Amino acid sequence: MTTKKLALFPEVEKSRINREIYGHFSEHLGRCIYQGIYVGEASEIPNVNGMRTDVVEALKELDIPVLRWPGGCFADEYHWKNGVGPKEERATMINTHWGGVTEDNSFGTHEFMELCDQLGCEPYIAGNLGSGTVRELSEWVEYMTSDNVSPMTDWRKKNGREKPWKLRYLGIGNENWGCGGNMTPEYYANLYRHYQTYCRNYGDNRLYKVACGPNGDDYEWTEKLMQIIKPWHANAISLHYYTVPFSWEKKGQATVFDENGYYATIACTRRIEEIITRHLDIMSKYDPEHKIGLIVDEWGCWWDVEPGTNPGFLYQQNTMRDAVVAAVNLNIFNAHADRIVMANIAQVVNVLQSVILTDGVHMLKTPTFHVFRMFKDHQDATSITHVLEDSTTTHGDVTIPDLSVSASKKDGSLTVTLCNASLSETYGLDTQVSGGFETCSAEILTGAMDAYNSFENPTTVEPKSYNGFEKTDDGLLVTLPPCSIVTLKLK
Ligand code: AHR
Repeated sequence: MTTKKLALFPEVEKSRINREIYGHFSEHLGRCIYQGIYVGEASEIPNVNGMRTDVVEALKELDIPVLRWPGGCFADEYHWKNGVGPKEERATMINTHWGGVTEDNSFGTHEFMELCDQLGCEPYIAGNLGSGTVRELSEWVEYMTSDNVSPMTDWRKKNGREKPWKLRYLGIGNENWGCGGNMTPEYYANLYRHYQTYCRNYGDNRLYKVACGPNGDDYEWTEKLMQIIKPWHANAISLHYYTVPFSWEKKGQATVFDENGYYATIACTRRIEEIITRHLDIMSKYDPEHKIGLIVDEWGCWWDVEPGTNPGFLYQQNTMRDAVVAAVNLNIFNAHADRIVMANIAQVVNVLQSVILTDGVHMLKTPTFHVFRMFKDHQDATSITHVLEDSTTTHGDVTIPDLSVSASKKDGSLTVTLCNASLSETYGLDTQVSGGFETCSAEILTGAMDAYNSFENPTTVEPKSYNGFEKTDDGLLVTLPPCSIVTLKLK
């Protein structure tokens, strides 16, 4: 066992950790919305107003703060008017991005708002700039948020919703450098300014407008965007970064990989920190007062689809490797919580790095689910200063930092989330806690790098209560086994 030092300084506060960093993303893609969330009222699967009860109940355990919808690439082809009114009269469309399936629009604005109500989370609507019109988006905002008398609000009432909804988060376009129109940054930025002008604040509803930001390390996009978009046009810009360690053509399997695949993944996911920092530096040049925030509204591992499943549905399994990726990313987002206002892992159910998988009536929680549960006390907490003595593992030509940590305080207790990404090294973390503490409890999530929960064995990877720590004179010594995530609660 290698001993390293961690010092926690609860009295040196850093910043509030926006609870929205623990956000999720739901897209009309594969079995995310249909089957995964929405089964319809007539389904044999227990549901409330069409939303499957098992999934809603599980997601409630995570205290999901915000849910993004309807895409992704789907957003820029989505025409909201087709998704309201009597279901039997709703127009259908072809979901050209995702499997060419027919979308019957039975899950639309009212259903999404109902889902958010059931989850107790904020809606984050991704508006269509790629193939929609200024008027269409303007009217959607009016339909959802206005209490005035108008054709849009009359229509909403006729469709069963008397009072307007509250809508804060509004994205205007998605990946407009790619699937959302293949635009240049200048062209998009000017269109964005145009569209956002007509997205009004009705009554006391205040929109928080999000412009489409860069793809990974495309710093030029951020540079050009920030030259044109000013704080009075946008509250935040988005960043998309997927963990794809090898190539988009051969991403590799979710459950079958070797140590090379594991370490390459951790190195690839760690890159997000440099990417975030460099985008934030560019943003600071144009917005020195940091009025415009950064939202990482798509992130996570993207593997080849599970063998035998529709390639357009992006269904993948989820292992301890994904859990480590989730922990490392959440610790990075927490570290930059002064500028990162939201993050949304892709996607919540049955697509990419999901927290939940379903198969007919069955449902399971993935290792990533458990990480979100173990980290949830960071939501709206205050991050505190810590100093970590780290170590690295070199595997072939890849070197990764082994340890990752965040610490925050809320309601008189400290939450410390630790991750040991090494597959071989056990660490003893000699943790000094300034000001001391009375009690400590801990949970651990650990297993083989490729361990996962299947429908046959849905609890192979589950957090357990952990007693691998002992009190010392000035804190505690915590044992971190290889490939593990530990949450400490200190009071
Ligand atoms: O998450 C899948 C797709 O990835 C999203 O629709 C798109 O925004 C991104 O390219």
